[in-house]
Amino acid sequence: MTNVTTLTAGMGLTTTKAPYIEEAVANGEMYIAQPYELYSVENHDTWQRLFQRMQNHWSRYANERFLDGLDTLCFEPTHVPRLEDVNRFMAPRTGFRAKAVSGFVPAFDFFDCLSRREFPTTITIRDGQSLDYLPEPDIFHDIAGHVPMHTDPAFAETLVRFGACAHLAADMVRDLSDREERRRRLSSIQNALQRFFWFTVEFGLMRDASGQRVTVYGSGLLSSYGEIVHSVESATVQRYPLQLEWVINQHFEIDHYQPLLFIVNDFEQLYEEVGRLETWMKAGKLDHVTPGWRDMSEADVESFLEASLRVR
Ligand SMILES: [Fe+2]
Repeated sequence: MTNVTTLTAGMGLTTTKAPYIEEAVANGEMYIAQPYELYSVENHDTWQRLFQRMQNHWSRYANERFLDGLDTLCFEPTHVPRLEDVNRFMAPRTGFRAKAVSGFVPAFDFFDCLSRREFPTTITIRDGQSLDYLPEPDIFHDIAGHVPMHTDPAFAETLVRFGACAHLAADMVRDLSDREERRRRLSSIQNALQRFFWFTVEFGLMRDASGQRVTVYGSGLLSSYGEIVHSVESATVQRYPLQLEWVINQHFEIDHYQPLLFIVNDFEQLYEEVGRLETWMKAGKLDHVTPGWRDMSEADVESFLEASLRVR
């Protein structure tokens, strides 16, 4: 760690351009430290500009639980947050902690972290030249978009319950002797879980108590300057009450604004929906969901297969 940070000091922690991250990936390190001294002046400036321009959008469109979370976490507007500071404010509320990762985390490991109240967190920040779109998560998406929600007890319990679904999936196929059938079934269940996560945690909307107004709780929207407005205001977006059978069969694409979003009434409902997901999984109703528009990532499927072979 000391050698790496010495070698890479001053080079910044910019997404796809950080030698510290490349080194960690080359060494097979998934969980890493946040070498705070590596952030460049430009990295902090990028955070400041991203954070500043979201303020009005958040106060207008974000769910009130998210706004409460922002108050709780006391981010410094001018600097990339230190994960240890984030955790100091967050852990006493819900037990959740942000945990630095080097990049891709296979699906089972990601869900498993949630079940242990850990949130795999990207520590790089997007290039300041292009604030708006990047295909991979960065610390602004993970910390400013996701983490404020993790201060809410009902939302946090929902995440933990959702994470536990991955263990249930692995347990359920453990006794299948046919490896191909185990793989096929896990692929289908994983598709269902990822769609649920996408249409709720990443892109969820909530109807407020008056029934008149829709607010945003999904992190993909909360971290997007353009899409947070589009998701609520645009007449081209289809918005429907969350229907589990629809969500688990609905594929999605990541490289454009979402044309279809689902609305919940509150996080207690979301928690109950995760309960139905569990029940449906046990009943075999996730074993044949509509295939995705692209092949499932091999690493994601392998992570579930490996977990299914472990004896707990
Ligand atoms: Fe995300």
